[in-house]
Amino acid sequence: MKSLIGLATILIHRVSSLAQSPPYLYKSTSRVVGRVTAGPIEISELGCGTWSWGNRLLFNYSPDQDEQIYEAYRVIRDAGVTVFDTADSYGTLDLNGRAEILLGKFERRYLGEQSMSLSKAGGNDMGALFQKLLYSTPQNNSLQYSQQVATKLAPYPWRVTKQSLVSATKASLKRLDQKKVAIAQLHWSTANYQPIQEKALWEGIADVYDAGLCEAVGVSNYGPKQLSKFATRMQERQVPLATAQVQYSLMTYKDALSRDMVDSCNDVGCRLISYSPLCLGLLTGKYSVTKNILPPVGNPRRQLFRELLPGAQPLIQLLEAVAKDTGKTQSQVAINWALCKGGVPIPGARTPEQARENVGAVGWRLSNAAIDELDKAALSISKPMIQNIFQTK
Ligand SMILES: NC(=O)c1ccc[n+]([C@@H]2O[C@H](COP(=O)([O-])OP(=O)(O)OC[C@H]3O[C@@H](n4cnc5c(N)ncnc54)[C@H](OP(=O)(O)O)[C@@H]3O)[C@@H](O)[C@H]2O)c1
Repeated sequence: MKSLIGLATILIHRVSSLAQSPPYLYKSTSRVVGRVTAGPIEISELGCGTWSWGNRLLFNYSPDQDEQIYEAYRVIRDAGVTVFDTADSYGTLDLNGRAEILLGKFERRYLGEQSMSLSKAGGNDMGALFQKLLYSTPQNNSLQYSQQVATKLAPYPWRVTKQSLVSATKASLKRLDQKKVAIAQLHWSTANYQPIQEKALWEGIADVYDAGLCEAVGVSNYGPKQLSKFATRMQERQVPLATAQVQYSLMTYKDALSRDMVDSCNDVGCRLISYSPLCLGLLTGKYSVTKNILPPVGNPRRQLFRELLPGAQPLIQLLEAVAKDTGKTQSQVAINWALCKGGVPIPGARTPEQARENVGAVGWRLSNAAIDELDKAALSISKPMIQNIFQTK
């Protein structure tokens, strides 16, 4: 009797909390992605990158792919990924801003589907409703499990005032059709070529926070020195710093800067975001120079992979062996390696198959022995991936 009363109390509590909140309810049964801290906020341990959503040049995007990209989005969201990395510069030429537009549209559609499935469960299937209520905790029913957009604002040469960053964020929010982003990031540092602009950008991103347009701020392509200076200024302005992202994969590990970034992020209390964890697809194992399986002619990744793949063969072979040994795929091993290093990897996916594979990279961990072997192989490649031209020290 006591336990029945207890169950009824839980159900009443759950029903009333559902009634108060928007339908941010997830299929808990398929949610595998955990949560980590990023400065003062919490994000999913795996993210998703959106560079390819609108990029014709590198990813041969066309708008007729949107439906399949949405299918990928649904898989990723169902798995519990909430953080999506994007930028106001993503989308080539007339498609500029496309990734942000799609992110906004996709989330509205996803939430619509969730709310439909909830009302259907309520109407026809009490068992399913019961299960959803039971699985819905105050945490997964709250806003922290809704989409978290981490957009990047480009330090274009004409963005020289702090107000220009506030305006840029408002333009991103308009494309997203949202009121606030989770993380507003500076896309790159201008320290190497226009240091004066950098000061305005730092004040600008702090103003973006003060204006209530983001929950926290972050940087991208900042090295340890520049990150430390930025963190000091944000502390003075009392602005929460959540993330710092750099290119981080087995193909960049040879570069000491990549390796140092985990400690640098820990020093300033933010989370490393590991971008291009699959080295733009090279580490998936699906490309081969000898078999001439490469991105299409005219795609710059074709030449890049031609140059990098031969020197990376021992690493690719090891990835294949570890994948076989662990019962995972090469992509999953490459992403899990980046995760084990302490960052939040944000692989880009644009098909449901890729999405399923990438979310399967979490929920388990490579052994220390496998990580050591992969580290050694990564340090021995003859030609590492080229560093972003804006990367600072
Ligand atoms: N801050 C910066 O300056 C910066 C720079 C670069 C990237 N980023 C961010 O990081 C995100 C990820 O990086 P990225 O897109 O450069 O590279 P990535 O995640 O290393 O690789 C993504 C590409 O690999 C292929 N792929 C992904 N998953 C796959 C799978 N499971 N199986 C087979 N192929 C798969 C897809 O391309 P194909 O199907 O065409 O092979 C996909 O577009 C970007 O979307 C962006 O948000 C930030």
